[in-house]
Amino acid sequence: MIATSQPSPPPTIHREDYRPPAFLVDSVDLHLALHPAATRVKARLALRRNPAAGPSGTLELDGEALTLLGLRLDGAPLPPDRVRHRADGGLSIDGVPEAFALDSEVEISPAANSELSGLYLSGGNYFTQCEAEGFRRITFFPDRPDVMARYTTTIEADRAACPVLLGNGNPDGAGELPDGRHWARWVDPHPKPSYLFAVVAGDLVAVRDRFTTRSGREVALAIYVRQGDEDACGHAMDSLKRSMAWDEQTYGLEYDLDVFNIAAVSDFNMGAMENKGLNVFNTKYILARPETATDADYEGIETVVSHEYFHNWTGNRVTCRDWFQLSLKEGLTVFRDQHFTADQGSAAVKRLWDVRRLRAAQFPEDAGPMAHPVRPDSYVEINNFYTATVYQKGAEVVRMMRSLIGEADFRRGMDLYIARHDNQAVTIEDFVQAMQDASGVDLARFRRWYAQAGTPELRVRDAFDESSGRYTLTLSQSTPPTPGQPEKLPVPIPVRMGLIGTDGTDGAESPGAATLLLEEAEQDFTFEGLPSKPVPSLLRGFSAPVKLSGLSLEQLGVLAAHDTDPFVRWDSGQQYAVAEMLRLVRDLRAQRPLELPEGLAANIAALLERATDDAAFTAEALALPSEDFVADQMPVADPDAVHAVRQFLRAAIGTRFAGAFAALHAELTDPGPYRIDGMAIGRRALRNACLSYLGRAEQGDGLLRAEAQFNTAGNMTDMLAALRVLADSDSPAREAALARFHATWKRDDLVLDKWFTIQAVSARTDTLQQVQALAGHLDFDLRNPNRVRALVGAFAAGNPAQFHHASGEGYRFLADTVIALDAVNTQVAARMVGPLGQWKRQDAARGTMMRAELQRILERPGLSKGTYEKVSKSLAA
Ligand code: TRP
Ligand code: ZN
Repeated sequence: MIATSQPSPPPTIHREDYRPPAFLVDSVDLHLALHPAATRVKARLALRRNPAAGPSGTLELDGEALTLLGLRLDGAPLPPDRVRHRADGGLSIDGVPEAFALDSEVEISPAANSELSGLYLSGGNYFTQCEAEGFRRITFFPDRPDVMARYTTTIEADRAACPVLLGNGNPDGAGELPDGRHWARWVDPHPKPSYLFAVVAGDLVAVRDRFTTRSGREVALAIYVRQGDEDACGHAMDSLKRSMAWDEQTYGLEYDLDVFNIAAVSDFNMGAMENKGLNVFNTKYILARPETATDADYEGIETVVSHEYFHNWTGNRVTCRDWFQLSLKEGLTVFRDQHFTADQGSAAVKRLWDVRRLRAAQFPEDAGPMAHPVRPDSYVEINNFYTATVYQKGAEVVRMMRSLIGEADFRRGMDLYIARHDNQAVTIEDFVQAMQDASGVDLARFRRWYAQAGTPELRVRDAFDESSGRYTLTLSQSTPPTPGQPEKLPVPIPVRMGLIGTDGTDGAESPGAATLLLEEAEQDFTFEGLPSKPVPSLLRGFSAPVKLSGLSLEQLGVLAAHDTDPFVRWDSGQQYAVAEMLRLVRDLRAQRPLELPEGLAANIAALLERATDDAAFTAEALALPSEDFVADQMPVADPDAVHAVRQFLRAAIGTRFAGAFAALHAELTDPGPYRIDGMAIGRRALRNACLSYLGRAEQGDGLLRAEAQFNTAGNMTDMLAALRVLADSDSPAREAALARFHATWKRDDLVLDKWFTIQAVSARTDTLQQVQALAGHLDFDLRNPNRVRALVGAFAAGNPAQFHHASGEGYRFLADTVIALDAVNTQVAARMVGPLGQWKRQDAARGTMMRAELQRILERPGLSKGTYEKVSKSLAA
């Protein structure tokens, strides 16, 4: 797509400016005649004036990259003087009646659509992506989610090129046409917003299954993939059926069509899309074989398949009034997929993953130039607001609401929400109101969580009175200012907690386990009758998305060793490690010799003593906090020092515990064929955590072990873990392994992505040059979002030491990529800007270079509005 030039800044859309649509659409009858470079789209819309809107005789239709061929109102051609062509590509039609039929015909070019929004080609097959504003690239329409209509779609295409023709809803006829063409019709009985429209056509094969709903409805399930991928759909299909059953059991929500289709595509801007009855998925979240997909990939498939399925009720049947309400469907649906996945296996370990992801992606966003509330107040480009804040923090807010009102009332609230708002386009306020009405709990203050940006900081102090046995916990909160929100109010923070005795007895709980509710800036909580001063175990299960501080190293050590709550045990260990790593950073800068802190070593020794009790947990607890997480705790980041310290610790721990790691690595070999149950996944995770440490150990056979594991691995989890160790090293086996991996997998896009990523995140000092060279590799392709994320995204967001290379070359590389990409795919380009926006966190020299690159991007003529918004906000903050 050619980006339009930006002579003046693009307009900002404000939430407060919401007005109901002037016209409603009762039905849409679409006819698509597919041709690669010239697809014809005919649309008949049944329109009528919206009684809820003010009087208006002007119909506004959105449109983008459409060539208008004809326009008729109630069958009569519209005179040109009643039609205005808007600067943004839309149409304004004056003097329209109360109710009327509008026929339009347009031509579009799927082949020329590299934006991957609207109708596009991927590998010769046709796919659509309409969320958020892609439907306007298919036909003229009031392309906003509060216009809900019933759709009939007729698709016509060449039979040989496109044997499969799919649309929303249920199939409603098919037939032959002259010239080797054929057609199929789909009718969706449920009114829906245009962003849920979808068409898929091409040479795909179906993997089929069935599901019988609780009330006895038979649903035909199908996953459409390219020929040769049929054997890789089992996990996705299984995840789908489990999701359907879970939503019935947990929320009483049943599927509502005769068919549920999924189509997989390798060129896709995001993970997947919940189009009604026809989900479209990035192949990354469908295809899995043990030889090609890691345990993390299997986990991703289960998560995303369930997420999209759950949208059928939270998003599709009840949808968003406007895009500021995006978290209404996304936060709630992430909460639902997290809950589902936790129910399928180890809930505790799943929670650690979710929290780590929130901290890695959302906390920095909340502290950076793009910080915005879960319900934003304004945007320039809505695609920039599909963020960790809207998704992950939104899910945390739903989770807190559930813990405040209780599980039973939450379920009642969900029932009420759906009963009240089925087939409506509503707001976050409607959702909270349903929860309030169902529970009787006043959620007035709680609503601040949706309105206020920034991560609240929770501080703890405590005091113990020996004579009375009274223990006082003082909790205080504050939220730092964010762009446009200088002042913050206190938010209600549910603090799930317990008190741990200091006598070292495992899990010796003092009385008082409870959920405290911190509503004010500061509050005291007292506990009576304690024999000795306890250690407070706070935020159990990560009961609120806040940053906790105020515990001493000693207290953290007790919690890491003895808490009964797995989250606090894990987190205290991580916080302990962060504190020690920051101390080592100071040592390094003062040129003092680095030594392995004995407290940290003791924590690891304790973990290793009971390593296989819960292998998955041990693997998580053994991992050192990421470089970014440590750097985020410094007033000014020092990526070089943090990297050096983390590498030092990996080597020192690997050396100190080489014997135990080697024994575990040998013991935990997969006993039989590959399995993906929690136990087997945990064992592989722990085994590979050991290998990772052994690979850094000063002496010993870590690299030889990695080489052997690489050569004999029967699954991608073990193969990739071994390759990662080699890729980080100077081992002579490194180049051979990378070359062999490439030769073996060069025809499998998803595996090749891993080959790019593993080199992009390598700890080696020549990684920046390697990444620059890889950007010129024959297999690198700017038009494929997965490939761009695999190389450039992984490098910029996953390799801080090399991205922040003192030369500034990492910044320049990213800016060059953003500029080139903005002419190909503006959505993906804008999403790549993020790491440059963190310039305030860096020292003056780096900050200046980062700003200069942002400035260079900003000065490009014809920059897209999405990239413009990200870059200009990054510079302004
Ligand atoms: N609604 C999708 C989801 O979260 C997100 C999505 C898929 C999307 N493709 C997109 C958002 C393209 C914006 C643009 O499940
Ligand atoms: Zn979603």
